Amino acid sequence: MSLIEDLNWRHAVKAFNPDKKVSEENIEKIIEAARLAPTSSGLQPFRIINVSDQETKEKLVTGALNPDSMKECSNVLVFAAWDNYTAERIDKVYDFTTEERDLPKGRFDSYTDKLKEMYLNQPAEYNFAHTARQSYIGLGLALAEAAELRVDSCPAEGINNQLVDEVLELGKHGLKSVSVMYVGYADESRDWVKPMKKVRIPRSEFVIDVK
Ligand SMILES: Cc1cc2nc3c(=O)[nH]c(=O)nc-3n(C[C@H](O)[C@H](O)[C@H](O)COP(=O)(O)O)c2cc1C
Repeated sequence: MSLIEDLNWRHAVKAFNPDKKVSEENIEKIIEAARLAPTSSGLQPFRIINVSDQETKEKLVTGALNPDSMKECSNVLVFAAWDNYTAERIDKVYDFTTEERDLPKGRFDSYTDKLKEMYLNQPAEYNFAHTARQSYIGLGLALAEAAELRVDSCPAEGINNQLVDEVLELGKHGLKSVSVMYVGYADESRDWVKPMKKVRIPRSEFVIDVK
């Protein structure tokens, strides 16, 4: 199967079968796709919280646009991004990369100095908007991987971010929730989107060719 076929297969599932769980192996592959996502300066400024505990899922329902999906999907993958850039966070990533690649200590100092100069002089909200954007790259790849595995999913921004942050104690990790990905298997009798045609604007409208 090609990636294009996988993307045509997937759709944003509206109802999940609560009795069908996704194997840990497949959940790990979906998470791995997000972990491998490219990010600005390679900082990977987002994390995934993998919620399979039913009681915890139910605590996240209030204010969700898809409350049934929150309860009935197999796993809720919460995409949460750094609440800000800090010197420590930047150094930790680059120290790790330097070590992993067996490079001389301080190899990236001039570059990290530039990153700090830029990010540490910007408001936290502005930086969070940037870290959150990185998380969407991971979300996109995770959706594609789920499709390849023929696992159903739905990306969702319709969540109560404040509640999600509180329940999962994301502040303790310097994170704020951005979106979730509901993962599971559709309940075909209630998933009203499945029988419908996939609709995308035509290529002629989507692309501006400059030749
Ligand atoms: C960032 C993002 C946020 C979304 N939020 C929601 C949501 O809160 N609830 C929902 O039912 N669908 C949500 N969707 C699904 C879109 O509505 C859906 O992907 C779009 O209509 C295209 O349909 P398809 O994915 O089935 O091809 C979201 C999609 C994205 C990419």
